[in-house]
Amino acid sequence: MNMVIEKQIPLLDLRAQHKQIREEVMTALARVVDSQKFILGEEVQKFEAEIASYCEAKHAVGCASGSDALSLALMALDVRPGDEVLTTPYTFFATAGAISRLGAVPVFVDVEAETFNLDVNRIADLLDSRPRIRAVIPVHLFGGCADMDPICSLAAARGIPVIEDAAQSIGSEYRNRRAGSIGRIGCFSFFPSKNLGGYGDGGMLTTNDSSLAERLAALRVHGRTGKYFHQWVGINSRLDALQAAVLRVKFRYLDGWTAGRQQNAERYRAGLAERKVPVIPASPAPYQTRHVYNQFVIRGADRDGLQACLKQRGIGSEVYYPLPLHLQPCFSDLGYKKGDFPVSEKLAAESLALPVHSELAADDIDYICDSIRSFYVRA
Ligand SMILES: Cc1ncc(COP(=O)(O)O)c(C=O)c1O
Repeated sequence: MNMVIEKQIPLLDLRAQHKQIREEVMTALARVVDSQKFILGEEVQKFEAEIASYCEAKHAVGCASGSDALSLALMALDVRPGDEVLTTPYTFFATAGAISRLGAVPVFVDVEAETFNLDVNRIADLLDSRPRIRAVIPVHLFGGCADMDPICSLAAARGIPVIEDAAQSIGSEYRNRRAGSIGRIGCFSFFPSKNLGGYGDGGMLTTNDSSLAERLAALRVHGRTGKYFHQWVGINSRLDALQAAVLRVKFRYLDGWTAGRQQNAERYRAGLAERKVPVIPASPAPYQTRHVYNQFVIRGADRDGLQACLKQRGIGSEVYYPLPLHLQPCFSDLGYKKGDFPVSEKLAAESLALPVHSELAADDIDYICDSIRSFYVRA
C-alpha cells in the first residue's frame, strides 16, 4: 500500500524566509549596486558595529567566511606550523581544517553527549601533557554555548588563548554572556543556513582586544597597515558589501526568528514527551542561558531507519555529523583510531537534526512528532 504524504517539510525553508523580506533586500542590494562600492566601505562598517554591539564585544571585523574567521583568528594569535590546537572532533570540518591549513596540529578532546560540546573534564590532563598546545577552540555547536568558564580558566592558567567557534551560535548566551564576547576572539559564519545567513558566504570576528582587532583588520587585507605597506603576511578575506547589505536587513529579524526557533524546540520537547517517543531531544544545560537552535537535534536508536521513514513522509532531516573529524581520511596521519572518542562516535551514529526554522507551523511539528512515534511503534 502506498502511503499518502500529508506534508512537505524541508529541513530549512530559505525561500519562505526570503518572501518575508524580499522588498527590503532588493532595495538594499540596489543601494550597493548604485553606489558601485563593493569592497568593505560603509555598508560593512555599519554591519560590523551592529554585530559588535549584538555580541557584546568591543570590536567586530568582517571577513569572507566562517572558515576564514577561524584561520584569521589563529594567524592573529601567532599559531605557527607545528603548534597544537585543542578542539572537538564533533564539529563541522572547518574548525580543524583551519588549524591544519596553518600547518598546526588539531588535538581532539571528546564531547559531552548532553550538550554536544567539549567535555571540560577531559581538558586539564591534555593541556598538562601537551606543552605545544597554543590555543583552544571550543565550538558552540547547534546554537548552544560550550561550558566556557572552566575552559577559559584552564586555558588562562597556562597562558593559552581561547577562540570561540560561534559559527552556528550568533546571539547564544553562556551564563547571560553572548557567544563571541567570552574568549579572546569569536568566529561567526553567515553561510546561508546559519541563523543569520547571507546570500552567499560571509564571516565575522569579534574581540574585546583593540590591538587584536587592528591586527585582524589588517590580516584580512594581506596584512596591510598602510598603502602598499604590509606589516604581516595576511590573506584576502573581506566581507562583501553586497552581503553586508543583505545581512543588515536580515539582522533586524534575527531575534524574532530566534524566538520562533526556541518556541519550536519547546513544542518538540513537549510533543515527544507527550507521545512517549524513545528519543533524547536536545535540552540546554543550565549554563546555556540562551540557546538559539541553529539545529534541533535528537538522538535515537536506528537513526538511519528513522531518517528514511521521515523522508517517506515528506520531512527533511540531516545527520550532523556522520564521521567525526578524528576518523576523516585527511587526518589519518594524526594517529587517531576508531574508539578514541566514544561519545563523538556515538553521537555521529545516533543524532538527527529536525526542521526547527521559524517558518514552521505548530501542526508541522505535531506531524513530525507523530511520524517519529509511528516509526518507533512499528519498529
Ligand atoms: C562549527 C562551524 N565552524 C565553522 C564553519 C565555517 O563557516 P563557513 O561555512 O562560513 O566557512 C561552520 C559553517 O558551516 C560551522 O558550522
